[in-house]
Amino acid sequence: MGGCVRHELRILALAALCSLLPALARAAPTEADIAAGRKIAFTKTLGNCIACHVIPGGTQPGNIGPNLTHIRALLPHRKDAYAIIFNEPARKPQTPMPPFGRNHILTPAQIRQVIAFLYSHK
Ligand code: HEC
Repeated sequence: MGGCVRHELRILALAALCSLLPALARAAPTEADIAAGRKIAFTKTLGNCIACHVIPGGTQPGNIGPNLTHIRALLPHRKDAYAIIFNEPARKPQTPMPPFGRNHILTPAQIRQVIAFLYSHK
């Protein structure tokens, strides 16, 4: 009986650990995430963020949106940037910025990569 309870506790602990892993992985973006995010931001067929935003390393940026060089200061919480990139019209119905997540232009993983890239600038 006691052994059985111990066994259940071990399974519970393991399940708790497993449910934490994606969050831990998200907390620490890798160099590969940053490189993928750079590509998304600067590629016309992906995010094409450079069409509207000044972003470090990008050439011929547009100026329809705010300069994202100091995004860490503008939006200290990455989850706020995520919400904006996922569906900015929810916040500003008249925005020219496409709802990248809502309209499946980018996957949630790609949005996290572009955020990893933008927040890699000091
Ligand atoms: C067609 C133009 C356009 C494109 C493309 C675009 N944005 Fe925007 N973005 C804007 C505008 C305009 C704003 C200013 C707020 C508003 O009107 O929604 C903005 C705001 C933002 C903000 C909030 C900045 C702040 O200081 O509040 C972030 C972050 C952002 N964009 C990231 C991105 C990323 C990442 C991409 C590419 C995946 C992207 N944008 C593509 C036009 C664009």
